[in-house]
Amino acid sequence: MQGVSRNFFTLAIIYALCGMAIGLSMSISQDHSQMPTHAHTMVAGWLMSAVFAFFYHLFPAVAAKTLATIHFWLTAVSGILLLVGLFILLGGHESIEPLVAIASMGFYAAMFLFAFIALPALWGRN
Ligand code: HEM
Ligand code: HEM
Repeated sequence: MQGVSRNFFTLAIIYALCGMAIGLSMSISQDHSQMPTHAHTMVAGWLMSAVFAFFYHLFPAVAAKTLATIHFWLTAVSGILLLVGLFILLGGHESIEPLVAIASMGFYAAMFLFAFIALPALWGRN
């Protein structure tokens, strides 16, 4: 793995370590208030980033495009802001909500960009 694939898989591992630490902390403290942060860090973070890594590994010509790099950075920046923001929000700081909202939209935009990148590659137009 190299380039965008390696970046995505590295990001996935960081999410897994952080998300599982939140899961353990919830279990030990028996305070499940961070459950949505844990759930999204695991599935929208670890699992989705790993899927992106394998997709770009399977399509190296697509991974070499500038759009793939833009997809990585938009996903990484919006995803990290979304999850850190959610952690702070569920910690009781409601003033952070606008940041979580904007980051969510950025994360959705990144998925839209991925559809634009992946569908032509899947259907043989790349
Ligand atoms: C160290 C390992 C883990 C621990 C200690 C842990 C702990 C927890 C805890 C305490 C909850 C809250 C349950 C509740 O309040 O109903 C939870 C929920 C959840 N966990 Fe984990 N977890 C771990 C690993 C994982 C992994 C590897 C994934 C996925 C790849 C995952 C995905 C989820 C999801 C999606 C939920 C939400 C489930 C729901 O909607 O009810 N967790 N976890
Ligand atoms: C734009 C990004 C996203 C937003 C704004 C969002 C928002 C939400 C909301 C509002 C809930 C309900 C939480 C609750 O009732 O406490 C939820 C639950 C959930 N979402 Fe997402 N979601 C997003 C992306 C994703 C993605 C990409 C995945 C999976 C790959 C995912 C998996 C889940 C799961 C497993 C739950 C149930 C666990 C929980 O309640 O936290 N979400 N999401």
